Amino acid sequence: MSKRLLSGIQPSGELHLGNYLGAIKQWISLQQVHESLFCIVDLHAITARQDPKKLHENIRRVAASYLACGVDPQESAIFVQSSVSAHAELAWVLSTFTQMGELERMTQFKDKSKGKGAGQINAGLFTYPVLMAADILLYKPTAVPVGDDQKQHIELTRNIAERFNNYYKTETFVVPEGVFPSSGARIMGLDDPTAKMSKSAPSDLNFISFSDDADVVRKKVKKAVTDSGSDVTAGDDKPALTNLLTIYSLLTGREVSDIEKDYVGKGYGDFKAELAEVIVEWLAPVQLEMKRYLDDPAQLDIILAAGTEQANRIAQVTLDEVYKTVGLGY
Ligand code: AMP
Ligand code: TRP
Repeated sequence: MSKRLLSGIQPSGELHLGNYLGAIKQWISLQQVHESLFCIVDLHAITARQDPKKLHENIRRVAASYLACGVDPQESAIFVQSSVSAHAELAWVLSTFTQMGELERMTQFKDKSKGKGAGQINAGLFTYPVLMAADILLYKPTAVPVGDDQKQHIELTRNIAERFNNYYKTETFVVPEGVFPSSGARIMGLDDPTAKMSKSAPSDLNFISFSDDADVVRKKVKKAVTDSGSDVTAGDDKPALTNLLTIYSLLTGREVSDIEKDYVGKGYGDFKAELAEVIVEWLAPVQLEMKRYLDDPAQLDIILAAGTEQANRIAQVTLDEVYKTVGLGY
């Protein structure tokens, strides 16, 4: 299999529906035709302060979430970023191929540092995209499936790879392609359809978390913001309904236009009640599987150890090649 895929999510909290529909759902179908590596990017998570115990727990919960969503440990590697030291090592080399101006233009950095003084912004948050470039380039993947908000980081990764290759006149790095879902690349907040669903949103009503029980899901969907009017239809003038219909469509595999037909003459209330059940039906087995993995720490350890071994094997070869190309070592 010559096609290789790499992606990752930060263990900075419980995963949410946006993570699943924007990223993980694509992983599951792509893993069948790619050699796949799924990383839990814990080094990225510490760009915001984390409670050590909670971080450790979250790392294992994210691993269990990947598995529960359908990542197949027989086919794909699941590993924790900090267990493969080449990530941090390559990031240093790549930082010397990255311009300050490029990092200053990153919208995620601008968003996360908004309203803060220079004394409150750590340098890791600024250089975060360089570490992400290292995560990717180490594995020479052909595909990097992520949500829309990562487009700019993927573009930077491509530029860094090309700059390095051009400078040394080598083919060391494969210039990777981002893979974005045609629908669901940007799931919006339930309480605010103008901003993406995010675990760092001020209100819990923004997202459906992997740990929400059925009643919480029902409550959140019931309270979800809707548009003016009463027709259950998608459209540019209906951002809230478009988002809810997109979620319904992606979880059921039905076309939005087909779902709209079911609700002709019915109101938002009926639609929301059924959408809540669609989400509950998707989430309940995921939660059961997560619990099964979390209740069997030895099995999770075996899966992570195997993933780490595979990742290390690939990453070390690339890192050696980079060091040799640059002239490092003796
Ligand atoms: P993060 O939680 O920022 O580590 O994101 C992990 C993955 O989920 C990335 O591929 C993101 O692009 C994707 N993602 C996060 N939030 C959303 C969202 N609201 N809609 C679609 N994809 C998302
Ligand atoms: N920056 C990504 C996010 O916030 C997470 C990430 C880190 C990632 N390294 C990666 C995604 C490598 C894909 C590949 O969502």
